[in-house]
This record gives sequence, C-alpha cells and structure tokens, in this order.
Amino acid sequence: ISPEGAVYYLFGATGDLARRKLFPALFSLYKEGKLSENFAVVGLARRPRTNEQFRSDLYESINEFCRYRADDSELWNKFQEHFVYMSLDINNVDGFRELNSLSSELDRKFNIPGNRLFYLALAPSLFGPVSFNLRDGGLLESSGWHRLVIEKPFGYDLPSAQKLNEQLNQVFKEEEIFRIDHYLGKEMVQNIQVIRFANAFFEPLWNNKHIANVQITLSETVGVEERGGYYDKSGALRDMVQNHMLQMLTMIAMEPPSRLHGEDIRDEKVKVLRSLRGYQSSDDVREHVIRGQYAAGSTGEKQLPGYREEESVDSSSTTETYFAAKVFVDNFRWAGVPFYIRTGKRLPVKSTEVVVEFKSMPENVLFAQKHDLSPNLLVIRVNPMEGIYIKINAKKPGSDNAVQPVNMEFCQSCQIGINTPEAYERLIHDAARGDSTYFTRWDEVAHAWEFVDRIAQAWREEKGDLQYYPAGSWGPKKAENLLNEDGFHWWPVN
Ligand code: BG6
Repeated sequence: ISPEGAVYYLFGATGDLARRKLFPALFSLYKEGKLSENFAVVGLARRPRTNEQFRSDLYESINEFCRYRADDSELWNKFQEHFVYMSLDINNVDGFRELNSLSSELDRKFNIPGNRLFYLALAPSLFGPVSFNLRDGGLLESSGWHRLVIEKPFGYDLPSAQKLNEQLNQVFKEEEIFRIDHYLGKEMVQNIQVIRFANAFFEPLWNNKHIANVQITLSETVGVEERGGYYDKSGALRDMVQNHMLQMLTMIAMEPPSRLHGEDIRDEKVKVLRSLRGYQSSDDVREHVIRGQYAAGSTGEKQLPGYREEESVDSSSTTETYFAAKVFVDNFRWAGVPFYIRTGKRLPVKSTEVVVEFKSMPENVLFAQKHDLSPNLLVIRVNPMEGIYIKINAKKPGSDNAVQPVNMEFCQSCQIGINTPEAYERLIHDAARGDSTYFTRWDEVAHAWEFVDRIAQAWREEKGDLQYYPAGSWGPKKAENLLNEDGFHWWPVN
C-alpha cells in the first residue's frame, strides 16, 4: 500500500545517517513505486547548501549505498525534483516559520494534503527544542497528519527518558511518535513471529518444557570508528542492549498476540519486559552480567588498537564495549529457561543470530550413552546472512547406527532475485502509512530502561569487574562461564 502524499522533513540532512541510510531508503521506495509522486523532501541542517549541492549529495549517497543505482536518468530527474534544502538554526523559531511557508508551497506543487513527517536524525537533546519550534512555527497546523520519527538513544536512563518523553508529549500524542529501533526493521527479526506462529513444528515446543536455553548474539568486527565521543558515554549496555538486544528477546519470548496489529503486538512485548527478572543487588549483577573492553589485538595481519587508544575516547575509560548476561523471563512459559545475550565490538565476525537450544531427549537409552547426542537447535540468522536452520540428529550414512548432527537450512539471502529491503526502507514506509508495529512504544522504552538502569547502577558502584579482551577475539573468558556453570556453551555463530 502506498502511503498518502506527505512532506518529509529530514533534520540532520548533511549527517551520516541521511547519507548512508535515509537517502538510499527513499530512493528504493521511489523506485519500487511505494512513494508515488505526491511527496517532497526538505533537507534541513545548519550549514548553507544550495538545492543543487543537496541533490548532488543525494546522488552520490545513492550510488554508494543504495541497493539500486541511479542510472536511469529519466527516473533520477523526476526523483530529485522532489528534494529541496533549507539551512535552519533549530533554536530560532523564525526559521521554522519560513519552513512552514516553504511547506505550503510544496503542498501546492506536489498536490500534498498537508501531511507532514518530521524525521529527526539529530542528537536527542535537540528532540524537545525542535518539537517546540515545530509547534510554535505553525508547522503542525496543516490539515493532514503530523508524525515525529526519532532515532535512538531515547534518553540515557529512565529519568532522562521520562523527561524527554514529557517534552515530546507537550507537542505530539504517543500515536504520532515513531521511535526507531532499526533492528525491528530487519527482515529476519520480523520473521520471528511468522516462524513461531505459523509453524506447527515450533509453537507447541516453545516453552520451558522443551527449550533448554536461548542465546542471542550480536557481534561486530568494527570498533567505535569516529563515534568515540558518543560511544564513550554510552557503552554497549545503552547502545545495543537497552534497544536491539531486548527487542529481539521480546520477539522470541512474547505470547501470541490476539491480532497482528501494532498495539496488540506491542502489548505482548511489554508483558515480556515486565517479566524480566531485575537484578536485585550489585552482587547479582556481578554474577550474571559480564562487561568487557577491547584491548589492543589483531585480526590476521592487521594490528588493532585498544579501545582507550581510539579517537575521542578517555584514555582511562571504563566504558564497556562488550556485554554478556544471563537473563530470566519470569512468567509461566519461560520459568527456569536462561536467555544468554551477548554483544560486542571488535569480535571476530559480524553476525546477529538467535539460537534456540532444545532439551535433550529424555533417558535416551538407545543412543545417548554411546554417542552423546547433540541437542536440537533452531538458529535464526538475522544479519548479515538471512535465513534459518535446524540442527537435527540423523544416522551417519553407511555406519552401524552411528548418529551425526545435520543442518536443514533455508538461506533466504542466498536465493537469487531476493533482495530484501533495508530496515530503514521498511520503517520509513511504515511511518508514512501510520503503522507503528515495528517502532517502540513509550512503555517498552521505559521498562527496558528500568532493567538496564539496575545494571548501570551496580557498575557505577564498583568498577573492578571490567574484563579486558584482545580486539579480534570472542570477548572475556568469563562470558563462557556464564553458560558453562549451567552445563551449556555458546554455540559458534556463522
Ligand atoms: C547501532 C549502534 O544502533 O547499531 C551501533 O549504535 C551498531 O553501535 C549498529 O554498530 C549495528 O547495526 P547493524 O544493523 O549494522 O547490525
């Protein structure tokens, strides 16, 4: 379904996110006919730029990062006409009034019924001031709908997130606020509910009677790149766990929603977050949560610097670049099943995977003693490969009842002709259609912060448990113990 026509306002239009993700996403949507012709995009940032310069940035970004090329000149010319640039001081309401006049012109030119989507690719401290100026500059008085799309991080902890939310609520209603978690835009994360609720194989087994543990890994090879200033204040806990990791966990653990509607799905996700067992004390955190920081190391020939040597990072920083934890969802379905989650920078591979490990066959006198059967696994591969596989036991061909584990695999990203939309493409399209299913609702954000804040609090009290790991390795050894003490181990990711 095409969204209705709208003006898209890109705040932070000269930034990295716009260049790498947002421009390419808009072009893909246009190319696939999902934007139709009645739209306009206003690029906004402080620095002066002409429309021509802006369109030339757009062109370069598309040719570098988009899954489609801008090589059809007729299509490109039509597309670029929808883009204009305006230099804006976001603290000055006069600029917003000017923006409002420009918007009315664009509405007329492109036959847009006053719908406005404000995308803030900005530092969160600016979300409040920009919202106030949108209101005071008259931009919310047009006849159509008004939606605010914002990037993470949504606050630094629960109190700051609450404050931010109160500011936004003075201007926008909850249903007008679209909080991005780009992991929710990923094909295989969205696929989790289909795999779970559309297969008789899985749903009956999806509980503590049959599942031994769940492992969620989000590993990255990159370090902090040019983002040292931001990352050093944030760390893996706030950068990845509060949002992407907990969101994936909720998708795995949620109950079936009554309907596949945004509010029903998000209601179920909130219940999972409410059931997360909060750590009770600093000792509890130390026992179940591992934090690490990469030291100098290498991959192959390449020497890699330690985190503290990275640009804009404090040379005595105790910020974590690695996080692993044992988490419990204290509800009827999941009582007693550990969820092990881990994420880190400068690990050996870039991969996001969910492994569901099933309980071993009971008293398997037929095979277990002789062959030590492998447990069955369901592996959901989110990134960079997309697909699922199931690990089962089968007879080793030609043997005398010897058993071997084999994989049954569906590799979606290997299929010729399948070029899955990027997360941002989907999310922009959803926001423009008013579908907030894959955006985080305020109560989800608040519960996630509550969980995370207890860990941060324990870490503030005691810094002694920070573990160092060589860049290019799989993180602190202690992260292995988390599982070993329960008789499990991390399944290798691909
Ligand atoms: C972002 C984090 O939200 O997600 C980054 O801020 C991280 O630190 C990125 O690198 C990972 O996203 P993806 O889609 O590349 O796995």
